[in-house]
Amino acid sequence: MASNTWSIIFLAATLVALASSVSAKVFTVGDEKGWTLNFDYEAWAKGKEFVVGDQLVFKYAAGKHNVFRVNGTLFQQCSIPPTNEALTSGYDVITLATPGRKWYICGVGSHCESGGMKLFINVLPQSVPPTPLVSPAPSPVPSGKMFVVGDNYGWTLNFDYQAWATGKEFVVGDKLVFRYPIGKHNVFRVNGTQFQQCTIPAVNEALTSGYDVISLATPGRKWYICGVVSSFSAMEYLFYLSEFLYVTASLLFTMIFSNLLYSYVLDSW
Ligand SMILES: *[C@@H]1O[C@H](CO)[C@@H](O)[C@H](O)[C@H]1NC(C)=O
Ligand SMILES: *[C@@H]1O[C@H](CO)[C@@H](O)[C@H](O)[C@H]1NC(C)=O
Repeated sequence: MASNTWSIIFLAATLVALASSVSAKVFTVGDEKGWTLNFDYEAWAKGKEFVVGDQLVFKYAAGKHNVFRVNGTLFQQCSIPPTNEALTSGYDVITLATPGRKWYICGVGSHCESGGMKLFINVLPQSVPPTPLVSPAPSPVPSGKMFVVGDNYGWTLNFDYQAWATGKEFVVGDKLVFRYPIGKHNVFRVNGTQFQQCTIPAVNEALTSGYDVISLATPGRKWYICGVVSSFSAMEYLFYLSEFLYVTASLLFTMIFSNLLYSYVLDSW
């Protein structure tokens, strides 16, 4: 009975999560033309309202183009950032996780300067909570598997993600979904060193939408961390727990001891 109730609660939560992910808009950059040469992306973006949680899809023949997220200066100069990695899958899905101005360019040859493969958008903050839809909208058919990190637990404290990842086969084209309550956690892509030290990169922007979809665009090792400094981290929790046990134990001890004293007193009376 109790487990049934929990199943229903979990199902409801999953439906809500699904509904809110579905209500976000998906923009295929360039619509049916996709990400290509000699297309006016400025005109394409004009009049469109991009909101946090929406997704951009860059569609192109893999190997022919790629996608770099750049800053305003690099966008003007059509130059590729030294650190940022290109998206190259041919079906790159970017979740707009934070409000503000975003710039994307193609880093192949002179596709940016002479081919016009540059996109600038302004992402608005999410004003109203997304309204759940009654019927699920058709979503783009992504190739590859979708991994919800932590499965039913999502992206949360005190979960063994190493054990979760063990034995899973992640292939280019697959997607990772980080699910968590907005504001409670976030997701940073880091390198091996930063992963070891749990340090946040200076340049990298966090994903914060609470339903962050990452397309695994390139082969190789990838590291992700939560950048939220929790006042209640796993370590502190353990410490708190042991302190609590200590207090309980000494309390118990005091109670037993005073009981003994009390009975001793009673006995002697
Ligand atoms: C843009 O990025 C480049 C390379 O990372 C950096 O040198 C430059 O200072 C940045 N410009 C702005 C305005 O952030
Ligand atoms: C990891 O990133 C940091 C900051 O960007 C950099 O200083 C460090 O050299 C990088 N380490 C590796 C192994 O790439």
